[in-house]
Amino acid sequence: MAEQAMTWVDNRFPATKMYKEHMSEYYAPKAQNFWYFFGSLALLVLVIQIVTGIFLVMHYKPDAALAFASVEYIMRDVPWGWLIRYMHSTGASAFFIVVYLHMWRGLIYGSYQKPRERIWIFGVAIFLCLMA
Ligand code: HEM
Repeated sequence: MAEQAMTWVDNRFPATKMYKEHMSEYYAPKAQNFWYFFGSLALLVLVIQIVTGIFLVMHYKPDAALAFASVEYIMRDVPWGWLIRYMHSTGASAFFIVVYLHMWRGLIYGSYQKPRERIWIFGVAIFLCLMA
């Protein structure tokens, strides 16, 4: 039944072929190791920062007279607000650590060299934009 459904999909859109090419049979160099986790971790932390940030901004008041009370409100009264705020503040530090380890990997493995110079330059651009 599931196989038939997948054949129906594949006849219209190459889902199985794409899954094999980009996921299950994707060529991963043997030399890849622990240090290559940090790019995906950076992406994960970035998504967590964006999602928790959106929830925080729903309750935070960016006003000198109201900001402190709004943070107290987030910590005490908003359901799970304390967790969202701690995830956001811890995530801010984690992002630096993870991105620096990711850049360190790029330096020690020479990932800034041909043919990856554009990825490196793009990475520097992302880094500068996020730090600005
Ligand atoms: C938001 C920040 C970033 C995210 C989410 C991110 C994500 C990723 C991911 C998922 C990979 C593939 C897996 C891996 O090698 O870890 C990768 C590779 C790479 N990244 Fe980043 N990256 C970020 C920032 C940077 C920065 C700041 C630099 C350098 C200044 C950089 C340079 C590179 C290079 C050169 C590669 C290719 C490595 C290779 O194949 O040898 N990235 N990145």
